[in-house]
Formats: sequence, structure tokens, C-alpha cells
Amino acid sequence: MFENIFKNNEKWVANKLKVDPDYFRKLAQGQHPEYLYIGCSDSRVTAEDLMGVEPGEVFIHRNIANLVVSTDNNINAVVQYAVEHLKVKHIIICGHYECGGVKAALNPSDMGQLNSWLQTLRDVYRLHQRELDAITDVQKRFDRLVELNVREQCINIIKIDHVQKSWYKTGYPQIWGWVFDVHTGKIKDLELKMEEEFSSIRNIYDLRPLG
Ligand code: CO
Repeated sequence: MFENIFKNNEKWVANKLKVDPDYFRKLAQGQHPEYLYIGCSDSRVTAEDLMGVEPGEVFIHRNIANLVVSTDNNINAVVQYAVEHLKVKHIIICGHYECGGVKAALNPSDMGQLNSWLQTLRDVYRLHQRELDAITDVQKRFDRLVELNVREQCINIIKIDHVQKSWYKTGYPQIWGWVFDVHTGKIKDLELKMEEEFSSIRNIYDLRPLG
């Protein structure tokens, strides 16, 4: 059943060793990625592949619809480890068009176990309801929610204490919002200005002690 996968793995190992016989010895020594990538679990959005990066270059977290939920131990641990220990310079939130999670959030229905997860997405919809409901083209509304969700998750990243502490101390990590277009394979930079974004909401989310 997994025959092909193991065969592919052997080929992959052989190719790496052909280029550099020391490849895995070096890989085993540790990781120093400059990027934390937070993306969707969608099988079409293969983080390393679409960025063309090698093992060791990007620390990766994926979940349904690339959400940053404040009560999620998993993402909190990932972000803390990436920022405090790996000292990543950049955090990328990468959404994608045709995201099933985002689509589900646009259509009210009982999704069982997924309800609480999708609630975060429905909240994004509510925050931007006026803009979204004004878009009559269903596909365009869907695409726009994908983009707005990335922006909101970037904002959720800057609410995290470890991120703020590091940011005030070193100016890093910088936060970036991208959308992967499954129709073309291209990454679109949403060109979010997260420092400006944060200054407009600093009075609400700043965790620095006053004075
Ligand atoms: Co998705």
C-alpha cells in the first residue's frame, strides 16, 4: 500500500547523498530556520514544495484554515518555540483560495466536531460582514474571506505575548500574510502592514507593562 512512498523516500535519500554525501550528517546537527510558516492542512498546499525550500529552512505549523486560536496549546507552543528558541525572523500566515474551511464558514450548518474550530472563521466573517455581504459574486466573496482570514490571523499572532516581547526587543519577528492560489500555483503577498496595523490596536492588545 505504501510501497511507492517508501520507494520515493529511498530515491530522495539517494538524490540528496549524490549531491552531498554529508547531507544527513549535517541535517542531524540541528535546525536554524529563519521562517515560521503557518498554513492550511489542505493536501494541495504543500508548504516546502510551493516555497521551494530545503529541509531545515522553515519551521511549519498547519491546521484547518491556518487559524491562530488563543486557546490552542499546539499553536501557542509552536509560536513560543519558534520565537524564543529558534529566533525566527519572519512569521508567515499562508491561506489559500478554495479553502474548504473558509467555504464551510460561509455556509451555516452543523459540522459536529468542526463547529468550534470554524467558529473562529465565522467570527472573521462577522467582523467583516458589511464588506463581505456587499460582494454579490459568491466566488469573489469566498476569495475575499480567505484574504481577510489571513489578515485576522496575522493580527492574532501579534496579540501573543512571546511575539510582542521579542518584537519590542529585537524588531523581530516580522509578520507576513500570503495567499496561495491553487488555480495558478502562485503565492500572493497581501502586503499587510502589520506594524501599522498593531499601532492602531495597541491600546487594546499591548501587553507591555505601562510606565
Ligand atoms: Co484550507
